[in-house]
Amino acid sequence: MTPPTLITGGTGTLGKLVVRRLADHPLRVLSRGRRAPIAGVEQVTADLVTGKGVTEALAGVRTVIHLAGGPKGDDFAARHLLKAARAADVEHVVAISIVGADRMPLGYFRAKHELEKTLAASGVAWSLVRSAQFHELCLDLAGKMAKLPIVPDPQGLRFQPVAAAEVADRIVALALGHPVGRVGDMVGRTTYGAAELVRTALAARGKRRLFLPVRIPGEAGRAYRAGLNLSQPAIRGTQTWEEFLARSQTTTGVASGPSR
Ligand SMILES: NC(=O)c1ccc[n+]([C@@H]2O[C@H](COP(=O)([O-])OP(=O)(O)OC[C@H]3O[C@@H](n4cnc5c(N)ncnc54)[C@H](OP(=O)(O)O)[C@@H]3O)[C@@H](O)[C@H]2O)c1
Repeated sequence: MTPPTLITGGTGTLGKLVVRRLADHPLRVLSRGRRAPIAGVEQVTADLVTGKGVTEALAGVRTVIHLAGGPKGDDFAARHLLKAARAADVEHVVAISIVGADRMPLGYFRAKHELEKTLAASGVAWSLVRSAQFHELCLDLAGKMAKLPIVPDPQGLRFQPVAAAEVADRIVALALGHPVGRVGDMVGRTTYGAAELVRTALAARGKRRLFLPVRIPGEAGRAYRAGLNLSQPAIRGTQTWEEFLARSQTTTGVASGPSR
């Protein structure tokens, strides 16, 4: 019997797209069980941050696709996962990180950099791609910002949004190949100011808001203004933000982006 591929975070935005692309393979999805399970796919409940259930989830697994992530604890999660993967003789771990992981002075980025270091030191063969923010996340953030009567316009804050579907394609290609270490960053075709993303998302709904320029304080502000969260050169996705917005209008409405 072919051993299952373990997909952590298989219930998330990116994870669901990866699960769909690997539907012909035996899969096991690891999550905390907080979201709707995926029909026809083996599910295991574990918490990567506390480590509960992780060893059991790895039983009989040869390939792990690590996509679980959250605002806090991705460093602990990586340590628990990689320790269990090593003990279970896993042959290949494919993981996602974020562009700027080693440069941005913010906890989320630092935790992702710890993940990268844990992976490299784990003794398990690995592949890793850093990605920019997904279109889906940007749309979600834009929706939240647009609820404010006046939208803050953080000066110098820029993004290179990329289609989660294209990141999923990259992850699947890595998982079906041999371990290659870190590959080129994935970003979208265009760099946008934060306010531009909100403005265009609003315009797609026929709405407008007033914007108020604000300065992001401190070290984080300096890092964003210096573009340390951006990547050049990198692998560029093909779907633009504007195409994503147009597609989200025609398929699901602007509240949530399209997946394919
Ligand atoms: N979104 C972006 O723009 C972006 C950009 C670059 C990199 N990334 C990275 O790409 C990955 C996927 O992002 P996404 O936006 O698809 O995430 P998402 O939709 O928020 O989904 C997160 C997934 O992680 C699981 N998870 C969270 N905490 C967990 C824990 N302690 N133990 C086990 N499972 C846990 C969640 O499942 P349950 O809630 O059911 O446990 C869910 O399946 C993340 O690692 C993220 O950091 C995202």
